[in-house]
Amino acid sequence: MRNKPSIFVTRKLPEAVETRLAGDYQCDFNPDDRLYTGDELVQRADKCDAILCCHTEKFNKEIISRLPKNVRAIANFSVGIDHCDLQAAIAKGIVVTNTPDVLSDATAEIAMLCMLGAARRGNEGFSMVRADRWHDWSPTFMLGKQITGKRFGIIGMGRVGQVTAKRARGFDMQIHYHNRSRLDPEMEQGATYHQQLDSLLAVSDVLSLHCPNNPDSVGLLNADRIAKLPDGAIVVNTARGTVVDDDALVAALKSGKLWAAGIDVFNGEPSEIHPAYRELGNVFVLPHLGSATVETRDAMGFRALDNLDAIFAGREPLDRVA
Ligand code: DGY
Repeated sequence: MRNKPSIFVTRKLPEAVETRLAGDYQCDFNPDDRLYTGDELVQRADKCDAILCCHTEKFNKEIISRLPKNVRAIANFSVGIDHCDLQAAIAKGIVVTNTPDVLSDATAEIAMLCMLGAARRGNEGFSMVRADRWHDWSPTFMLGKQITGKRFGIIGMGRVGQVTAKRARGFDMQIHYHNRSRLDPEMEQGATYHQQLDSLLAVSDVLSLHCPNNPDSVGLLNADRIAKLPDGAIVVNTARGTVVDDDALVAALKSGKLWAAGIDVFNGEPSEIHPAYRELGNVFVLPHLGSATVETRDAMGFRALDNLDAIFAGREPLDRVA
């Protein structure tokens, strides 16, 4: 009988996913969930047919060029593929897949949490109660910004952007968006399309980022663009830290140009984030929890496995990105 294909699993995955993996493949698991160095990734890939990895492993050009020839595929446990050099993978004949769709609901939930946490001073209120600094209630105590009926601007109207728009409609928000191309009216659901980013910025009482990290989006939210937002706007980032110029965002949060920001993803995460994000009262922060629900993490694992199953059955994987 032919040996089962062998999979190098770089991080500890949910139990249900590892159970399915163990049943269908020979696996090199990571029970301690240690973050492997680039050298270790290359070494451990020595005998595997495929790698199942997360965005925490950087498969850049150099690492991919050093992968042994036995590696046929890199199946990502993520929708984002900015940690993977796709051109280098193509050059080496390695198939790369990701896990779209299944994390849109969970990420949209976190976008709402970030929006509300920022608008209603979640960080200040939470810290006050926890530190026993809450000693009074008054009609003017800790007033936030109401988001009901406000204008919600979306940059990147892909799957996550569209679900986030749907959730924001639940707050009677008016949806505006900027995207490479306009959606058809059925998908737009009454949202207003802005071909020019500046035009979107001008009407975004809340600006929510949903674009991938790529050369076009790096530093996209810079000082010039922040200046074009309405005074007192709120910025929400559940996409990637790279989309934001941190110094510019911090300056606008300090000056009062922006009311607040709700941020789930950071440049330099987890430990090298801009220090002001730990200090400013008007920043509501989370540690990259967008897809972190039991349901979604299982679904991401199963989707990555469906892709591997297709590859090893000689079929085209559903989510091939390279
Ligand atoms: C994704 O899927 O891209 C999330 O950010 C988790 O990696």
